[in-house]
Amino acid sequence: MSEQYDLVEATIKIIQDRRSIRQYSKEPVSEEHLEMILEAARQAPSGENAQPWRFVVVKDEATRKQLGAIAGGGSGRRFTAEFVTQQMQARFESLEDEAKKKAIFEKLTSGRVSAFLADAPVSIVVCGRKDVWDLPYDTSAAIENILLMVTALGLGACWVIAPCIDIRDEERLKDLLGVPEGIKVVSIIAVGHPTRPHRPRPRLPLHELVYDEKWDVAYYEEEA
Ligand SMILES: Cc1cc2nc3c(=O)[nH]c(=O)nc-3n(C[C@H](O)[C@H](O)[C@H](O)COP(=O)(O)O)c2cc1C
Repeated sequence: MSEQYDLVEATIKIIQDRRSIRQYSKEPVSEEHLEMILEAARQAPSGENAQPWRFVVVKDEATRKQLGAIAGGGSGRRFTAEFVTQQMQARFESLEDEAKKKAIFEKLTSGRVSAFLADAPVSIVVCGRKDVWDLPYDTSAAIENILLMVTALGLGACWVIAPCIDIRDEERLKDLLGVPEGIKVVSIIAVGHPTRPHRPRPRLPLHELVYDEKWDVAYYEEEA
């Protein structure tokens, strides 16, 4: 029983400790750790056990620089669209410090927020078979396994979708990595050694998320 409890505690700790890490030291990720991370991905569930995922491991500096440039471009366009449609302003409505707000908007719309991919020692480019209907769900399960194993190993990672949203960027990635027809590039996971501890981002409370039998009937009471 206590062994089971230790496992539960360790699992919760890994889930809670995971956060998106975007700054890494120059220290490489060991082959042993990389294999453990990819093995965790391989063990993920998939619809009909199709296992449609494929992974391209990128360490080459020139390729990483190009990944960073594509990610920065994609991120910049996405956030510029959010800015133009006022979604970004709504998202940061409660932030009163105007200078800080301006700096955040600049970081987002310039794409700098995702260009860090260039400096990650390893990028795992998550791809998958387009003919498998459940591909987005299957790869998401594999990616979460990657993120949790990374955390358990004391490493840091960030799920980056920015270079895969725009079909033109996806084509650039496919050319860069030699990805064939019929395979989609889903996301890139940057992995490395974190340079500093990161604060957790806020999460909505359970009472706002969970309903009791019917939509909008709170399952949990709001904590006082
Ligand atoms: C589907 C998905 C796509 C994401 N894409 C990006 C991205 O393109 N660039 C980036 O910097 N972070 C990206 N993230 C990381 C999120 O910004 C991050 O998970 C979120 O802000 C919560 O912070 P946390 O992961 O530290 O808890 C992505 C996360 C998910 C789940």
